[in-house]
Amino acid sequence: MTASDTDWWRSAVIYQVYIRSFADGDGDGIGDIAGIRARLPYLADLGVDALWINPWYPSPMADGGYDVSDYRAIEPLFGSLEDAAALVDEAHAHGLRVILDLVPNHTSDQHAWFQAALASQPGSAERARYLFRDGRGPDGADPPNDWRSVFGGRGWTRVVEPGGAAGQWYLHLFAPEQPDLDWTSPEVRADVEQTLRFWFDRAVDGFRIDVAHALMKAPGLPDLRTDLDWPEAARRPEQHPHWDRDEVHDVFRSWRTVADSYDPPRVFVAEAWVPKPERLAAYVRPDELHTAFNFDYLRAPWLATPLRRTIDATLAQHATVGAPPTWVLSNHDVARHVSRYARPQIDQPVHSLQALLGRPADLDLGRRRARAATLLMLALPGGAYVYQGEELGLEEVEDLPDDLLQDPTWLRSGHTDRGRDGCRVPLPWGGDAPPFDFGPGDDAWLPQPESWRGSTAQAQREDPDSILNLYRAALRMRRELPALGDGELTWVESASDVLHLRREPGFACLVNLSQEPVDLPVGAQLLLASAPPAGGALPPDAAAWLADPT
Ligand code: GLC
Repeated sequence: MTASDTDWWRSAVIYQVYIRSFADGDGDGIGDIAGIRARLPYLADLGVDALWINPWYPSPMADGGYDVSDYRAIEPLFGSLEDAAALVDEAHAHGLRVILDLVPNHTSDQHAWFQAALASQPGSAERARYLFRDGRGPDGADPPNDWRSVFGGRGWTRVVEPGGAAGQWYLHLFAPEQPDLDWTSPEVRADVEQTLRFWFDRAVDGFRIDVAHALMKAPGLPDLRTDLDWPEAARRPEQHPHWDRDEVHDVFRSWRTVADSYDPPRVFVAEAWVPKPERLAAYVRPDELHTAFNFDYLRAPWLATPLRRTIDATLAQHATVGAPPTWVLSNHDVARHVSRYARPQIDQPVHSLQALLGRPADLDLGRRRARAATLLMLALPGGAYVYQGEELGLEEVEDLPDDLLQDPTWLRSGHTDRGRDGCRVPLPWGGDAPPFDFGPGDDAWLPQPESWRGSTAQAQREDPDSILNLYRAALRMRRELPALGDGELTWVESASDVLHLRREPGFACLVNLSQEPVDLPVGAQLLLASAPPAGGALPPDAAAWLADPT
């Protein structure tokens, strides 16, 4: 790895490691750093360019590690700082870069700062790092405003003051165990920059920024305004009181200076759920974050028109700021795309398991579409994200027993939303029975379906037609073909439910989203297909990569 390839992120395929569920090195049923180290050869062989590792810091795990109690240490369940250093070194030796997860919007309630805030008086410097406010009503018994928690319920919790009296309230846009920091505090800003430097000094290549669009809140913390219909209202000039406010960009400009002061420069990817592509493009202006997850693409149904519309809008908006787009189909917060695509597709955004329940599922169809979606995604300009297990074609586990669910969404929704555990089930690596070589022990922290016997990495390695081998072939080819990665795209005229795109020099991708076979272009040479063409035609729900000299 040399400083000369500082633009690697413009084309990178980044593999998301949800550490708890990736691989268990010590046999306690929970994935860890030792497990990742042992599987680096697998990731190098798969052909990805980098790993993004979900939070691995000390945490009471109220939200799968997104409740951080110390940003500059490692959760003992996962390993030690020495293990982390060894992982970064070994990954680099395999040609893999390492991106960590920064959680700047909130800390854990067990963080030393929050504990100090609880022990201090209203108005103290300790409370000023968070958003403590007096309640409304005569005795302050009503929350300061009407903001909600993303996981359900109100966004405020009342504390007991050091003297024992009912006291102030603190804001938490997520679980009560995740108090929001006050990003107008210079101390908060300086501390997070110190965290960036701590990990950059340890050769980490970049950060994924958790809920980047949440950091700044409207001055005075006004009510949500029930007369406005969010997020629809954000399409108009009104700014939401706590999502995607213009003030956040100042924070990112400052972080960019830190990242650029390193050799090679470090990189950022924003997790920003925003209502329209031009709002996303603002996060990746040249002096801000480098890339952002394209959630419009993730939420698009498997239908030609919305897919093309999303691709075009993404490309147009990213072009205005000179940033490469990214493409993503799944992550640890959404139902796996095999299961989304297994349902009848309708032209509206879908990502939660909740929205899919009750719709009949055809998993074989979902898998065929997922294979095709992979070839489409990897043919598009820019970078891409692969969520662990999608290369094995894993589906959402929809029947986890209620008493094993751990996502705070389940509890806080009053057991109406099953949350995100179904996409977080530990990976099946080999063997014939659970836990499928997840680790040396007999357990995995969530149970895997017996049916994953045929989905293990080991089983698929031996099957030339497996989805794992499709990913390997596509990723290898993507590195070799100059047309792929960063660059331009043009559409070739095609039937309305077929996508036919060209990348120069001499590459085409054809995706058949119709119900009928579609003829491959005359004169094109087939490089790779998600399903075998028959009689010169590509079957429905399939994609092909073509060398196309015309
Ligand atoms: C992000 C994470 C999600 C987490 C939330 C709160 O959306 O991806 O897993 O629950 O932030 O940190």
